[in-house]
Amino acid sequence: MKKILVTGAAGYIGSTACYVLSQAGYLPVGLDNLQRGHRQLVQFGPFESVDLTDPVALDSVFKRHEFEGILHFAGWTLVGESLERPTEYYRNNVVASCNLVEIALRHDVRNIVFSSTCATYGTPQTEQLCETHPQLPINPYGQTKLVVERYLQDVSLAHGAACICLRYFNAAGAVPDQGLGEWHDPETHLIPRAILCGLTGDTLDVFGSDYPTPDGTCVRDYVHVADLARAHLLALERNNHNLARRSASWEAYNLGSCQGFSVLEVVRTVESELGQTVPVRLLPRRSGDPSRLVADSSAAHQILGWSPQCSSLGEIVKSAVRWHRAQTASAGVYNL
Ligand code: UFG
Repeated sequence: MKKILVTGAAGYIGSTACYVLSQAGYLPVGLDNLQRGHRQLVQFGPFESVDLTDPVALDSVFKRHEFEGILHFAGWTLVGESLERPTEYYRNNVVASCNLVEIALRHDVRNIVFSSTCATYGTPQTEQLCETHPQLPINPYGQTKLVVERYLQDVSLAHGAACICLRYFNAAGAVPDQGLGEWHDPETHLIPRAILCGLTGDTLDVFGSDYPTPDGTCVRDYVHVADLARAHLLALERNNHNLARRSASWEAYNLGSCQGFSVLEVVRTVESELGQTVPVRLLPRRSGDPSRLVADSSAAHQILGWSPQCSSLGEIVKSAVRWHRAQTASAGVYNL
């Protein structure tokens, strides 16, 4: 069985990718430092409890397994937090990635898929963002991801590696049948926050109602986590195809549904799925938030053959509500 190293395997997107890999006949070897991930989410292959900033432990993982490729999800991902804790963002996102790539190259693993983000674009200059849009991030999180993108570009050229950077828009939804869903502590993301508020009667804070958008709240492009996970499989295959042509390659693709929804539209969708009101209060803007982020994913469609299968807002919210309800029923993840 072909082994793939999945860093951040105990996290939200990494754990779903392990499921998708295993369904496709790969063996995902999950690696996580469990600082933010949850061991219970690693269900589809061996687990390595390793921090990417520990080169000795990391080297030993590569000595024990022969990897065909790497899906590199591990990292910190919160825009607001990155403004307060930039040093940790640079360590966990940049230093950790450099360690990983150096050791991978030492072991001749040259197929790398990196989790990047639309936060590398900064303030949009067009309605929909395509990959050639200028990358001018407005928060440290976006900066750290952009630094790693550029690092991979240099590395791929010099070392004949194949690297694909996947720029996610807003990952959302769950795979409740597999016990996989969004589990952050504390939870700051809009869809799970809105669901939790609907289930508990707490008030949802809406950050900013004076943006230049139709209802004044921020517009985002929500893409189902299972669709994101599938794109990684296609990216691994694309890298193999590029390596077979013996050429170094670096490519970047946007992954989004190409549709934008405002915060209040998301809240209304959650209310209708729950059959309950979500109490909201309008607060000032949260720093680091661009007003609108919507993808143009045609390159991923044309070159990777990727198209989202379950990324309508209705399906995303439905799956997330099912997962949250299951957690509540089993007194699992959330102690409601
Ligand atoms: N929001 C609220 N109230 C909340 C939570 C969020 O109003 O309680 C708003 C935010 O201000 C933002 C929108 O809902 O306008 C979406 O916020 P999220 O926190 O759910 O997601 P972000 O867009 O901030 O960031 C997420 C990921 C990043 C990724 C980005 C891509 O956390 O890693 O999507 O757009 F880069």
